[in-house]
Amino acid sequence: MIPVICLLLVSDKVFGNVPTTEFFSYGHGAKDTILHPNDDGSSPVQNISVVFEFFSEHRKQLFVNTNGLISFRNSIRTYTPEPFPKIGVRIVLAPFWADIDTRMCGSTCSIWYRESTELVDLSKATIEIRTYFPVMKHFNAKWTYIVTWYNVPFYGAHGSEFNKRNTFQAILITDSKSAFVIYNYNKIEWIASKKIPAQVGFNIGDDIHFYSVEGSRTSQIINLPNLSNVGYPGKFVFRVDLRDIRPAPTPGDPGQCFLKAADIVVVVDMSLSIDINALKNLLSDVISELPINDMECQIAVQSFSTSAKTELRFRDQKTKTEILAHIDKMNIANGVSNLEDALSSTT
Ligand SMILES: *[C@@H]1O[C@H](CO)[C@@H](O)[C@H](O)[C@H]1NC(C)=O
Ligand SMILES: *[C@@H]1O[C@H](CO)[C@@H](O)[C@H](O)[C@H]1NC(C)=O
Repeated sequence: MIPVICLLLVSDKVFGNVPTTEFFSYGHGAKDTILHPNDDGSSPVQNISVVFEFFSEHRKQLFVNTNGLISFRNSIRTYTPEPFPKIGVRIVLAPFWADIDTRMCGSTCSIWYRESTELVDLSKATIEIRTYFPVMKHFNAKWTYIVTWYNVPFYGAHGSEFNKRNTFQAILITDSKSAFVIYNYNKIEWIASKKIPAQVGFNIGDDIHFYSVEGSRTSQIINLPNLSNVGYPGKFVFRVDLRDIRPAPTPGDPGQCFLKAADIVVVVDMSLSIDINALKNLLSDVISELPINDMECQIAVQSFSTSAKTELRFRDQKTKTEILAHIDKMNIANGVSNLEDALSSTT
């Protein structure tokens, strides 16, 4: 039923935003902690109760930063948004990196945060991930971290500018095996304090694992509540624990699988002339023991010798039965006579 509901919502919403009623709950009622009113400030270090996998960064701490960032190594005061990819130092989630100032807005604005394993939040996270990643149909969220920038103004806003406010939310989600981030945008009425508009996305600092929402640091970023990477205006959803950055699959295309970074790699040195039947039995034995389910492609087979290197990966969803069937066919399939060809015939 969930995908059907999703499609209905998508067709209803051609443009718009995410209503705050569809945000994860926030505020005093949700037992949030409030980030004391400040300019360029941050929360104290937040020790979290899980290891959050953010690509190669496996973090047990985070910081909520006033200027629209969640960081993992240090708090960040920098108020001028820097372009992604930013190499090295900035390991951040950037729902809206810009010069936010909450000193003057009293109770009309706030930045809220909490870790939550409350059932209501886990259920909502589970439904959203299953909706936007249909292949994750057995996903069950175990942990969430929810940060809400509510009605925040910008540094240096004078007069009527002070009435321009932004409301957005970032949610970190994990089931301890995979990790996701959701950004929800309700209202974006300003994009810059001075010259450079907000940078939106995330950045790990290796020049590979980053995402920069198109229009970042330009006037186009005002359209954020109309933009999406999942076909739902005002919403971005990312899986952030894989080797590659994968966008959420388009609705109706649940066939792709997710290859975790080297979950299982079988390396075969072909210079040792391993008998194909012995290899087949070995692989079957190993795979029979693996917790392969229909969510992920968890196996890579790599073979090499000084003269040849081949790699086999299951790029589509495969059940354990299918993988074993592939291996079973390896030695004689297509008249293959050597290991290298046998492996490549199985991809
Ligand atoms: C957070 O964890 C560190 C050690 O990892 C510890 O030194 C520190 O006291 C903890 N902080 C809080 C607020 O619990
Ligand atoms: C979203 O798109 C609609 C239709 O093009 C437009 O009227 C509206 O102003 C846009 N909203 C924002 C926040 O860009």
